[in-house]
Amino acid sequence: MPDTEGGQDRETAAIAGMSDPSETLHYEMNRRGGSPVLVGRAAEMATLAAAFDAVRQGGPAALLIGGEAGVGKTRLINEFAGEARAAGARVLIGGCLELGADGLPFGPFTAMLRDLVREIGADELVGLLPGSDRAIRELARLLPELAGGQPAGDAASALRNAGEARARLFEEFLTLLERLAAARPLVLVIEDAHWADRSSRDLIAFLIGYQRALANVLIAVTFRSDELHRTHPLRPLLAELTRIDWVERTELPRLSRGQSEELAAAVLGGFADRALTDRLYGRAEGNPLFTEELLACPDGCALIPDSLADLLQQAVRRLPEDTQEVLRIASAASGAISPMLLARVTGRTEDELTAAIRPAVTGNVLVTTADGYAFRHALIREAVHEDLLPGEHSQVHTKFALAIDADPALVGDGRVDMEKAHHWYAAHNTTWALISAWQASMQASRSVAHAERLVLLARVLELWDQVPDAAERVGADHVRVLEESAAAARDAGENKRGLAFVESALAELDERTDPVRVALLLSERHMFHREIGMPETLEDLDRALSLVPEQLDKKARTQLLLAASHFGCHEGGPHFRERANEALRFAREAGDRDAEAQALAMLAVIEAGPLGVAEPGSETFRLSAQARAIAQQVGAYQPIIKLVIYESHLLCGVGEYEQAAMVAREGIADAERHGLARTRGAFLAINVAEPLLYLGRWDEALDVAERALDLAPPWSTRCSLSILSGSIALARGDLATAARLAEASRVMLSGVRYEDQKNLPQAVLDIGLALATEGPAAAVASATETLTEYDLSGSSSRYVWPVLVIAAAVARQASGEAADALLGRVRTLAEKQDVVGPVQRAWQLSYQAVDPRAGDDDDAAGAGDAASRLAAADAAVAAWEAIGQPYPAALALVGAAQVALTAGPSGRAAAAARLRRAAPIAEQLGAHPLSEQITALLPQAAGPAAGPQHERLSLTGREIEVLRLVTAGQSNREIAAALFISPKTASVHVSNILGKLGAATRTEAAARAHALRLFEAQDGAR
Ligand SMILES: Nc1ncnc2c1ncn2[C@@H]1O[C@H](COP(=O)(O)OP(=O)(O)O)[C@@H](O)[C@H]1O
Ligand SMILES: [Mg+2]
Repeated sequence: MPDTEGGQDRETAAIAGMSDPSETLHYEMNRRGGSPVLVGRAAEMATLAAAFDAVRQGGPAALLIGGEAGVGKTRLINEFAGEARAAGARVLIGGCLELGADGLPFGPFTAMLRDLVREIGADELVGLLPGSDRAIRELARLLPELAGGQPAGDAASALRNAGEARARLFEEFLTLLERLAAARPLVLVIEDAHWADRSSRDLIAFLIGYQRALANVLIAVTFRSDELHRTHPLRPLLAELTRIDWVERTELPRLSRGQSEELAAAVLGGFADRALTDRLYGRAEGNPLFTEELLACPDGCALIPDSLADLLQQAVRRLPEDTQEVLRIASAASGAISPMLLARVTGRTEDELTAAIRPAVTGNVLVTTADGYAFRHALIREAVHEDLLPGEHSQVHTKFALAIDADPALVGDGRVDMEKAHHWYAAHNTTWALISAWQASMQASRSVAHAERLVLLARVLELWDQVPDAAERVGADHVRVLEESAAAARDAGENKRGLAFVESALAELDERTDPVRVALLLSERHMFHREIGMPETLEDLDRALSLVPEQLDKKARTQLLLAASHFGCHEGGPHFRERANEALRFAREAGDRDAEAQALAMLAVIEAGPLGVAEPGSETFRLSAQARAIAQQVGAYQPIIKLVIYESHLLCGVGEYEQAAMVAREGIADAERHGLARTRGAFLAINVAEPLLYLGRWDEALDVAERALDLAPPWSTRCSLSILSGSIALARGDLATAARLAEASRVMLSGVRYEDQKNLPQAVLDIGLALATEGPAAAVASATETLTEYDLSGSSSRYVWPVLVIAAAVARQASGEAADALLGRVRTLAEKQDVVGPVQRAWQLSYQAVDPRAGDDDDAAGAGDAASRLAAADAAVAAWEAIGQPYPAALALVGAAQVALTAGPSGRAAAAARLRRAAPIAEQLGAHPLSEQITALLPQAAGPAAGPQHERLSLTGREIEVLRLVTAGQSNREIAAALFISPKTASVHVSNILGKLGAATRTEAAARAHALRLFEAQDGAR
């Protein structure tokens, strides 16, 4: 193409400033690089501004902005960033880089931190996180220079629990943002998330998920939507995020024809002729990047390149050959590249480099950033890189790898290993690719970037056979790499892959020569089986233990013993106790405090037995307190938190509510001290709110739940908190709220494995809600469903009793076959149910008060029966009062009053006394439905004027009661509910009454009662 050649010559001349003024003019016109004004995008700017307003008013808001490459995402963000800065905000932008599989872990966040340090200085940043060496150490996982040479992270704790180290890092980052945003609004932008590494994706999900806890922060994420193929890893994240109500997803469209013309006019400084704009729009189709590039063609783009990549290359080809050479090499770096590194890899002095690069900068192919040079657009870099010949490709990457190897200071602190791994791999240098991947995997481990670590280790394994002396090179044998890979897979949550690594390692080892290693792998295999949900057996652990006797390796044996006793600690039994005791002994002998704490904790659980019940002061609590003290001493957070959860759970189970709440509160404080307030702390909120609920401190319970929910905890925590708040709403008669919360938790529970401590409280809430909104028949249906769906005989009686009590109550209020059938099933379960501890005892008494088997309905005149039923109800009241649960006590009091009323006039005083006790409790709790029920019952308890009329009519006490309700217009079912009898009995009473009064209908009976002034005294009293 002679034309191109000629053009290039002219270009070169122009840049050298030698000739052809017209070309110089053209060049000058374009050096600004694009349009000084933003074309279109009014709607998108408005969306961003609205979201920004929302966060400044304290609400959460996040935007996901998709669009094809070159459509203007970065431009939009930059324009908005300018406005936000002008409005006083701080803007942090972090871009994801295309690094292939070995993306720099946390890339965009590291970039943000680096910018921040540059802006405010490391000292001020450190000062933002007061008194917290730990916080700095955590953040140094992202930006090692923060720790000033100290190792990043808390190595010991990272080893103990990788997931926790990660949670801690995430929380510290969140805290940093919180502190920054306290001073002024913060805009956080993650650019090009389609290239985000998995760790960054996780952190993005975490930050947006927890945004309610993060006032004054706007989060925006951009990505190339045209790159999201079906299995792209960003897809599920976007789907997940879009479900959050404060997240808005928008797609940036191409420019319209009119806007393209506007853009051309802005670039050219005047309106272009029709032919040009036709060509422009025809070719670039409204993509601003391509529009700009076409406009930059010297000949007004008469010659349209074949592909858009060619188009982008043209800008480069117009540059001097020396410049192009530098650009080709620079294209092998992802992201910004420091001038020093570029000088080194291009073999130039810095001055030479500056001279070579100037035309690229003026020509707007390269831009300068704080980190060095970068291509103006990634697509240009890609186009240049594609231009490299395969041989050149490896050569260039080798240069990078060698340069970084010779002088690691050329790239940022934490990046050295990753960069080397990337370049050696791209250079197809197997040996060094293997070595550097191994080294980088260790760095990834320090950065808690488990997924990236796994990728790197997989690469080591992939290259292993191609490097003859691989084991010597990395200083580890093949099995060791497999072991590391299994550990990385475990930490990254990839259990199936982890299992595969373990199996391969086992296949390579011989238990006769390597018993300890085999044993530990067997224990790992057991763990993976459990995580995957395969049937659990002790087989692997037993074999492992038989391989490692005490004299062989005490430490390994201790570990295996702990794993084995953990497996069976809930079932308990002498076998597991023995193992835990052995572990304890070894741990003490070896002075391994950590293992000691774990063994003690295990013994505590074993002590509590399969029912998980223990009284304060019992052996369980003694052991657990001992374990907690040790764990605290050695700073082993993981065991502490488990113990705190377990202790408060046990205390709550035996009615020690004050203490349960206190222990859980201490646990929250501990979580805060360990930088885990949001994750662990929120979970513990359940264990604070639950005892408060029982203690009748409902407002406090709601407050705790509300605050925990603000931290956007994981679904299982949210679910429990939702059920808890829903139960309070129901008891307070706020049915709309109760229904909303019940629905929320129901949705969360659907499709997940049954768990008695979640599904059964949910069932109780559902049954209560059905009763309140649709009546007894619906409640019976709901209860029947619960009994059918779940295996209550295999569930803890702690959660079964409440279900039985409410099921019996609704069965008694309804009538018909369904209710009878339900009651029958409930009775069977109640008979078999364990009664352990005072709380379960109270439930059982409540049950007996609700469902007195004896006498059932033939109690028309059964005053003697009523007495024993009253005693049962009173016993329930006393039991609830003894453990300090006011609400069930008040319910039982009202139940007792109802029983007393069935005894006729003689029971009225007793009924009134109980109602008077219940009234202030209901009042104080704000349990309005119960208050109303009490108000409705009080007149009955005050009693009708007893007089000769009844005697003449020979109505029994019970019949008087029934008649009074008939007179009030109540149906048999309502009468039955009010008097605590079955509707069938009520109807028998009614027909007897009709007979005695000589009335044909209920209305007639009511009229007779009226005429006889049977209830006059009572009416007068009203
Ligand atoms: N609305 C616009 N008005 C003017 N110029 C724009 C507009 N959108 C994009 N550009 C220009 O187009 C080029 C590509 O835009 P960029 O924001 O980098 O795209 P993306 O980030 O979507 O890949 C940049 O030079 C940018 O300045
Ligand atoms: Mg961009």
